[in-house]
Amino acid sequence: MGPDDIDKVSEIERVASEHPWSKSSFQNCFDGGYHCFVGCIDEQIVAFGVLSCAVREGHIQNIAVCPDYQGAGFGRELLSMLLEEAEELGAKTIFLEVSVENSVAFGLYLSYGFREIGQRKDYYKTADGRKNARIMRKNFGKERGLMMLPEMIRRKK
Ligand SMILES: CC(C)(COP(=O)(O)OP(=O)(O)OC[C@H]1O[C@@H](n2cnc3c(N)ncnc32)[C@H](O)[C@@H]1OP(=O)(O)O)[C@@H](O)C(=O)NCCC(=O)NCCS
Repeated sequence: MGPDDIDKVSEIERVASEHPWSKSSFQNCFDGGYHCFVGCIDEQIVAFGVLSCAVREGHIQNIAVCPDYQGAGFGRELLSMLLEEAEELGAKTIFLEVSVENSVAFGLYLSYGFREIGQRKDYYKTADGRKNARIMRKNFGKERGLMMLPEMIRRKK
């Protein structure tokens, strides 16, 4: 995604999301050095994803597919790409937030190994009132803490 894509991406966000980002939110992502991607068909933008990554932690900031193209595998493809990118950038863990009412995105994230670790109350402001967000986390590679536990118990005996 480049700055020239902000108009189109904002349009997708406006029609796809219950709590859409403003154009300035996308601009802030560029200013903050976030990793911003678009998915295209015949050079036409139909999806986008935004990832931030710092101190070995990734954060999926946003992901959306134009409603006309939803359910055709673009979300899955985009998420795979963002996860690959995060790992390449050195992330060991990746987080995201998703509305408690967004069962499609929640199911997609579960299928990629994300797990709910808590909720943020009233996180999203929607036309229908404030909604809680699920905080989800996925660890890349081996879960060292858990793997070491039996070893530590054996050593204590
Ligand atoms: C969430 C979103 C990105 C998923 O993208 P998508 O291209 O529609 O999803 P995919 O076609 O890749 O499908 C991914 C999974 O979602 C589920 N899914 C997709 N459309 C669905 C629908 N209409 N009803 C129920 N489940 C659905 C399926 O389980 C599918 O898994 P499968 O591949 O095993 O069948 C897209 O629906 C979207 O843009 N939603 C609005 C914005 C949003 O909610 N973003 C997430 C913010 S956290």
